[in-house]
Amino acid sequence: MGGGVLGTMMEGRMFDLTGRVAVVTGASRGLGRQDALTLARQGADVVITDVLVEDDPDLQKTAEAQGSMLAQVAVSQGWVHSNSTADEIRKMGRRSLAIKMDVTNREQIRDVFKKVKEEFGKIDILINNAATLDHAAQIPNQSYELWDRDVRVNLTGAFNCTKEVWPYLVENKFGRLIFMSSIAGTLGGFGQASYSSTKAALIGLAKTAALEGGRHNITSNAIAPGIIESEAGKAAADTNPLYERFKARTVFKRFGQPEDIANTIAFLCSNEAGYITGAVIEVAGGIPLFTA
Ligand SMILES: NC(=O)c1ccc[n+]([C@@H]2O[C@H](COP(=O)([O-])OP(=O)(O)OC[C@H]3O[C@@H](n4cnc5c(N)ncnc54)[C@H](O)[C@@H]3O)[C@@H](O)[C@H]2O)c1
Repeated sequence: MGGGVLGTMMEGRMFDLTGRVAVVTGASRGLGRQDALTLARQGADVVITDVLVEDDPDLQKTAEAQGSMLAQVAVSQGWVHSNSTADEIRKMGRRSLAIKMDVTNREQIRDVFKKVKEEFGKIDILINNAATLDHAAQIPNQSYELWDRDVRVNLTGAFNCTKEVWPYLVENKFGRLIFMSSIAGTLGGFGQASYSSTKAALIGLAKTAALEGGRHNITSNAIAPGIIESEAGKAAADTNPLYERFKARTVFKRFGQPEDIANTIAFLCSNEAGYITGAVIEVAGGIPLFTA
């Protein structure tokens, strides 16, 4: 594809990410997959990582080992699109890889970043997107097991990836970190104690990374989506009657689309967003407003 302003205009890019190398966690489906596609459309080379990948010969077993109903649904419904997404990105003329990476496995994360550096020459962008979303119960019925899992995946997982990518960003003298929080993190979440708590804690991590990253030209921001129609988001909306009330609370009376999140991320990863750091950007259709 052509470079420069003309190439950018021809490809309908919003922000030019040409030459950037991005790693997205939890990118086999949903918002992470859309982030990967959108970053690639803006010119970035993208590494798709996820604990569930299409070329895992033991995919079913891996899904069962997650202790996550959603992981098993994802496999049975054919929602795992890691390698095919990497193919799609390569067809755009970018470099891409799909790699199995469990954000709770520090050794695996270290190996993956090393491999990305070897194959792509550097790392510019990390999207901390991987999460578990399927622990719904009021506090007396929250399970200790799933509380621990959510902290391990959603919070510690993002910390693991941030810590392991840090030296590469420092060496690079440029970095973009994105943390996927949620309005469940900023507003609380009925029946979502573990999820909401981890999503709130990610804001502290994003802000700390912003403070420590400034001297290295690293920006760090959190996104707080409302209800977004990923496969998981749609499944929840179809089965949980509360979601009609959430929809009514948006000013548009509709849920968001994965592109709404991915477009915001593409902007935050661009040079144009270089002075935005430590921010929490709500992409929530106005849910937190005093909607009439
Ligand atoms: N969809 C929404 O309405 C919504 C709202 C607010 C925030 N978010 C956040 O956006 C992100 C994506 O949401 P989604 O709707 O696409 O969810 P999703 O469940 O479809 O995607 C999560 C991805 O993370 C992966 N994952 C889970 N555990 C992992 C692990 N240990 N290591 C690596 N990967 C792992 C899953 O396999 C999956 O591909 C999440 O952080 C979520 O909390 C989503």
